[in-house]
Amino acid sequence: MPTPEEYRSAIASCPSLRAAAKYLGVNKETVRRFRDKELLRGDEVKKPVIPDKNLPVEEIIKQAKDRFMRHKAKESSLKWMPFEMPDNKPIALAFMGDPHVDDDGCNWPLLERDILLLANTKGVYGINCGDLTNNWVGRLMALYAEQSMTKSEAIKVVKWLIQDSGIDWLLINAGNHDAWNEGCYLLEQLVGDTSIMTDWAAKFKIVFPNKVEIRVDLAHDHKGNSQWNPLHAQMKQAKMGDTAHLYNAGHRHEGGIAQHEDPFKNIVYWLTRSRGYKYIDKYADLHGFGSQDYYATVMAVIDPTAEGVNQIMCFGDVEAGCKYLEYLRGRK
Ligand SMILES: [Fe+2]
Ligand SMILES: [Fe+2]
Repeated sequence: MPTPEEYRSAIASCPSLRAAAKYLGVNKETVRRFRDKELLRGDEVKKPVIPDKNLPVEEIIKQAKDRFMRHKAKESSLKWMPFEMPDNKPIALAFMGDPHVDDDGCNWPLLERDILLLANTKGVYGINCGDLTNNWVGRLMALYAEQSMTKSEAIKVVKWLIQDSGIDWLLINAGNHDAWNEGCYLLEQLVGDTSIMTDWAAKFKIVFPNKVEIRVDLAHDHKGNSQWNPLHAQMKQAKMGDTAHLYNAGHRHEGGIAQHEDPFKNIVYWLTRSRGYKYIDKYADLHGFGSQDYYATVMAVIDPTAEGVNQIMCFGDVEAGCKYLEYLRGRK
């Protein structure tokens, strides 16, 4: 299809409309219609030139490409990220279950006891499973009327828990409550360089100088559900997901521990779920869910000099886990 400029030039230079039509490769009537329309047009109006507020398209695409490469580099470095231990002494990973620090049902006496133990026992590293605060969103915001701690106080407590409680955090994982209301941006700022922040799930490994590697598959919750087995989702992950030594989740406010050996992969692994600290829960009562006393935080004590079933031992109580770790470290 010729451009208006080509029409004008052909009409001006050709001896007849027929010749112009032949030159342009269109019907003579088409050329006539264009000419008549042109005759009706007044003198051309000079329109203002408005500068484009956007970058040139080439620059927009270049920036998008750079951004993607940075995201890809971050994604790759988060997969099975290594935490290198300074020596081969036994350590413990404390999988802290959902604290919900601002909920009136948060078992603060237990949480405070556990924080003190985790902060004061050598060789313990914290892994937070998510849901640090309620951070209610949408219609759930009405529930702020049923809790005494304000949102601003809750952020202050979380800041203290992450930065000043004395716990050596390896990882702070965001749960669904943390992600609401732009909460992940806030959490990212609170975590800063103190540890690694992940959103919902993390796969990492603890690497010891003697080359022993303990692989951990953590999620606020894994996929799968069973009314008979609270560890069903972790078992599904062990069977159908990546190979790991520890599978842990929180989120459902119930806990449990199981150890298995895969007879084909020849790996001993633990399925654990941290119960968290919300011990009074109107929602759970309403739906007939029971309330457990243990597993608020699951302690995985790792001895890199041991093998198989003796390499990792999990506890549903922080005090018992810390005592076992102290025993192992004192023995070495
Ligand atoms: Fe939760
Ligand atoms: Fe959750």
